[in-house]
Amino acid sequence: MPPTVPALTIGAHEIWPPVVLAPMSGVTNRTMRALYKPFGFGLTVTEFVSSNALKYGSKRTMEMIDQHGIESPVSTQLWGDDPATMAAAARVVRECGADIVDINFGCPAPKVVKTNGGSACLRDVQRCEEIMRAVVDAVDCPVTMKMRLGWTESDLVYIDVAKRAQAVGVQAVTLHARTARQFYRGEANWDHIARLKDALDIPVIGNGDLDDARVAVDRMRATGVDAIMLGRATLGNPWLVSQIRDLLEGREMQATPTPADRLRFCMVHYRTMVDELGEARAVPQMRKHVALYLKGIPGAAVLRERIMRTPTADESLALIQGCIDRLESDASLAA
Ligand SMILES: Cc1cc2nc3c(=O)[nH]c(=O)nc-3n(C[C@H](O)[C@H](O)[C@H](O)COP(=O)(O)O)c2cc1C
Repeated sequence: MPPTVPALTIGAHEIWPPVVLAPMSGVTNRTMRALYKPFGFGLTVTEFVSSNALKYGSKRTMEMIDQHGIESPVSTQLWGDDPATMAAAARVVRECGADIVDINFGCPAPKVVKTNGGSACLRDVQRCEEIMRAVVDAVDCPVTMKMRLGWTESDLVYIDVAKRAQAVGVQAVTLHARTARQFYRGEANWDHIARLKDALDIPVIGNGDLDDARVAVDRMRATGVDAIMLGRATLGNPWLVSQIRDLLEGREMQATPTPADRLRFCMVHYRTMVDELGEARAVPQMRKHVALYLKGIPGAAVLRERIMRTPTADESLALIQGCIDRLESDASLAA
């Protein structure tokens, strides 16, 4: 079947499907991105990395930006408010294997905005422009930018900032269609995404609240965006992305796997995290993932509660296996 929309082009990268895994701090580490990408993400983005922290090069920071040969293409996201520091950080992440450098003008978290980073940059559009120009000039790969609509509803600067981005050589813009002050309240307003698409020549990636394959593809067509980005709804449900890929490739959409099969994949995710990060780091990180894989599974509340308190990987995996066994025996009794 022929694709129903064009590939997303960023510099020399032809990205198919035009579906991007949203950067999510504390979630989209290397292991998680590698596990989820095959479901149908054309592009993955790292967790955001502080440009200031890169000056000190801690082991954890370096681990976050080391991309050599793992995914292709991969975009490394940076945040900060100082153009020179952002430029220096961009050179480091490029050196460490980033195919694309993404600038964060979207994060509303207090620890970020108190140092004028993330969405706080949107309060000073001139500063945004200086940061983008410095980063574009610093690296020999495409630079992209991700932002919110503005700091508040009364100050929607997204078109102004995106036009400045285009003028200084940024090669794609992602819009999460909420203001910084909204955090995650209310709904993402896709009318703004359509407006941005009309205003720019460079690719626009639409983001916010996509949690259904048909709605996602309809939104893509209705707004004309070049790609969509998905975050929260894919956690514990990467099959959503395969469904979107099916629709974009003109196929019938595959069904979501059974709860038992979803939990089998959860066990693969768990074991891979333990292998790559070690048990001490993987167990607390996997608690939130397991809770998400359990979403909508009948009778899972008790298990979710127990996983939160279980200190070892073996015990957690045994609990998940127990749930799979129960689901399968219930299904065979019902058959
Ligand atoms: C836990 C979490 C961490 C996030 N971290 C980042 C980040 O590091 N960089 C960024 O640009 N956005 C970050 N975001 C925002 C997402 O990339 C995305 O814009 C937002 O969740 C809206 O998309 P969604 O409705 O598909 O989740 C984060 C979101 C969540 C839920």
